[in-house]
Amino acid sequence: MKQLFLMSVVGLLILPIPVLHAKPDGKVTVQWLGHASFKLTSVSGKVIVIDPFISKNPKLEDEHKDLNKLGKVDLILVTHAHGDHVGDGPELAKKHNAPLYAPAGLNDSLVALGVLPVELSPRFNKGGVIKPLGDDIKITMTRAEHSSEFKWTNPQTGKQEIHVGGEPAGFIIEFENGFKVYHMGDTGLFGDMRFIGEYYQPDMVLIPVGGHFVLSPTDAAYATRQYFKPKYAVPMHYGTNPRLTGTPEEYINALGITSTKVLNMKIWEAISF
Ligand code: NI
Ligand code: MN
Repeated sequence: MKQLFLMSVVGLLILPIPVLHAKPDGKVTVQWLGHASFKLTSVSGKVIVIDPFISKNPKLEDEHKDLNKLGKVDLILVTHAHGDHVGDGPELAKKHNAPLYAPAGLNDSLVALGVLPVELSPRFNKGGVIKPLGDDIKITMTRAEHSSEFKWTNPQTGKQEIHVGGEPAGFIIEFENGFKVYHMGDTGLFGDMRFIGEYYQPDMVLIPVGGHFVLSPTDAAYATRQYFKPKYAVPMHYGTNPRLTGTPEEYINALGITSTKVLNMKIWEAISF
């Protein structure tokens, strides 16, 4: 009898925990941190940061360059090895004891060079689904048409070296409520975007429009209209340096009349879905 009582008390203590951490609005929150950086907060309050280029982003206000302002981080996703995407990822991983998932070759280099311990740099690749935050948040790596050199300054020689960075990628993240976000990473147009649109049917695409290194506004509009037809599109990766001349306005104009709602977010703006 006493044992039964104890078991039910333990049961009561364990069960309510997920409820305590759930977001009060029961929604997914998408926050743009500038460039290709986003903070996604899940329905149950899990925080995913993608391509955190924060402390060195020239377009951020000084107050937003402070990594403490991000709050807690549960998972870091990096699309490829370029500096404007790896960014503050390793520092955030160590600060929050949160794994940094990236194309496997980049994770290998981060470990081999001593940037991250192996437990914070798990290998991951295109195909299948990973669930590092529990069964109800599903993450898939997809193709991107780009490159992924990892430039690293050797502290012993002071010289820059180029290391393996894996293949560039995008991510499809499906949240607890079924809402699917597709972060495209850095990419040019490719025909398998049609497959990605058909197979994953993302509700929201985070789409680069800068037009140098990545899609131009016209390319992005074509992919949005022909391949994804998402409910929402958020233009990103523009204006951070002088070469990224494409603008959200050009993207919106190129799209014309469409069922997709373009969310031209301000840096640090957050919207819930
Ligand atoms: Ni890049
Ligand atoms: Mn980039």
